[in-house]
Amino acid sequence: MIGARGRPVRLLHVTDPHLFGDESRRIYGVQTAVSLQKVLAEAFRPGIPRPVAILATGDIADDHSAEAYANFRRAAGAYGLPVFCLPGNHDETALMMDCVNDGLFQYGGSAEFGDWGAVFIDTHVPGRPEGLVRADELARLDTVLAAFHGRPIMVGLHHPPLPVGSAWLDGVGLRNADELLAVIARHPSVRLLLGGHVHQEFARPLGRALVLTTPSTCAQFTPLTDRCVMDLKPPGYRWLELRPDGALSTQVQWLQDWIVTERPPDDRF
Ligand SMILES: [Fe+2]
Repeated sequence: MIGARGRPVRLLHVTDPHLFGDESRRIYGVQTAVSLQKVLAEAFRPGIPRPVAILATGDIADDHSAEAYANFRRAAGAYGLPVFCLPGNHDETALMMDCVNDGLFQYGGSAEFGDWGAVFIDTHVPGRPEGLVRADELARLDTVLAAFHGRPIMVGLHHPPLPVGSAWLDGVGLRNADELLAVIARHPSVRLLLGGHVHQEFARPLGRALVLTTPSTCAQFTPLTDRCVMDLKPPGYRWLELRPDGALSTQVQWLQDWIVTERPPDDRF
């Protein structure tokens, strides 16, 4: 177990770093290795309460290279905390599993954060931007949720299970969100569904749960647009505090020392 029962648990959520083996490479005008390093340095600066773990919800590597995952390990592993990872549409699942599933790093699976249970879901579809929870993952989710019976639970997954209101992003959303949500509905102790993919902050209640997405550690998309419109917001990340009674508090942070003046248009989907 990570953290202690009977006490709140603080977690750092980062998502969509889009790293390359060559750390000088950029997408959306951002040198992604640098923006991730700066996000982590800001989150772990002196005087800020330290989390017990880091959650990374996919699009870790942009170039399908082992070196990109090694760069992620070096950046996220520098703080000596457990790092829980799951794949996004840009990741290569078999390669990622090989690269970030030992030592401080866990790929997929489940975890316990204080009084909370957590399960990390694979929504990757080979060669496709949209997501799908395969039948075996749905079955595993159902089993793990049942095993955590009575405890508050978070579910991590790259593709958010609700539309975010941007036609182009919802078009590459979670294809079988209805099947996922049917499983979730059978387990009312699920309190949080946490993802990325949409490179923006999103929050919506779903029954007793909250669906959240977190800005990317590189570049953001403007909310509520029919086509891809890059946003001039800086890199972002999210704090989560999970309380023993199932309540949670959360806050998105935008990197302070980072000004975006222009963003090359790029519709990568
Ligand atoms: Fe992404």
